[in-house]
Amino acid sequence: MNTARAQLLDWLRNAHAMEVQSEEMLKTHIRRLHHYPQLRDRIVSHLAETCEQQAKLEHCLREMGGEPSGLREFSARFLALGHGLLQVASTDEVVKSLVLTYSFESMEAVVYRTLMTSAEVAAQPEIAGVCEDILRQEEAMAEWLREHLPDIVRQYLVRLELPGIQAKR
Ligand SMILES: [Fe+2]
Repeated sequence: MNTARAQLLDWLRNAHAMEVQSEEMLKTHIRRLHHYPQLRDRIVSHLAETCEQQAKLEHCLREMGGEPSGLREFSARFLALGHGLLQVASTDEVVKSLVLTYSFESMEAVVYRTLMTSAEVAAQPEIAGVCEDILRQEEAMAEWLREHLPDIVRQYLVRLELPGIQAKR
């Protein structure tokens, strides 16, 4: 049915699939990062938020009489790009991870802003509130990455020039 409610339900399912992919991506970064503890720690704390977000979205979906579905194409496609970047054993891996994570978190923020509006239109204030809470977490993560990007890029470039030191992760 073409209703705001049906559209909200569909977008909530997409968001849930996006968070499942996000969890995988963050875990991959955590496993691979060794020499950038500040970045690693921030990703670890966002991984915990990401798992909570999945649970919140599942709750919203069930409240609306739906349930999470498997992978959706939209996030799968985006992540195919990301995994491609990570799987290449590149010498600038930490910077590629940074670019990917920053892009992903920014995209997530836009998705939750869209969802929040959609929930308001569909007269689901509780769901709108949940989406707003998640939106703040995504914005905080994107902002942290934006702020720390110059420092991490500098650290990488310094390490790159030091003989016998690993720079890439
Ligand atoms: Fe996120």
